[in-house]
Amino acid sequence: MRRFSKIVSTTSILAVAITGLGLASTTVSAAEVSQANIEKGQAIAFSRKKGNCLACHTIKGGKLAGNIAPPLVAMQQRFPDKAKLRAQIYDSTVANPDSIMPPFGRHKVISDEEIDLVTDFIYQL
Ligand code: HEC
Repeated sequence: MRRFSKIVSTTSILAVAITGLGLASTTVSAAEVSQANIEKGQAIAFSRKKGNCLACHTIKGGKLAGNIAPPLVAMQQRFPDKAKLRAQIYDSTVANPDSIMPPFGRHKVISDEEIDLVTDFIYQL
């Protein structure tokens, strides 16, 4: 448990550091998503130990992608409301109780901050 909180706090510190970098290097408004966050989200999505989204989904930039789930393309058209996209990644069983997609947030496979980053990445596909 202690180790877990350490990982979480390290992640938050990293997130803060990255957000800081993003603000320092570019003049993006608060509503815009920084390139650094998108890249961080991509790393979490593609990591086999974290999202492992490529096991099932084809995603631009990913290798050895699976095809047992819909390709993740045109996400802003599919999900005009970004919160709904986040909810799908957080717990897919809300929309489809029989979903084989792991409920990443509910099962705490990836943290809330990581889900935000993955959502930022997926949303711009
Ligand atoms: C074990 C396979 C599997 C994994 C791993 C998986 N998904 Fe899915 N995903 C699915 C399936 C199947 C669906 C189709 C809807 C359903 O059955 O719930 C889906 C649907 C989705 C949708 C909705 C697509 C649409 O157009 O409606 C999104 C977004 C999504 N997944 C994102 C992700 C992300 C992001 C990850 C990684 C963090 C991920 N998925 C990991 C199987 C998976």
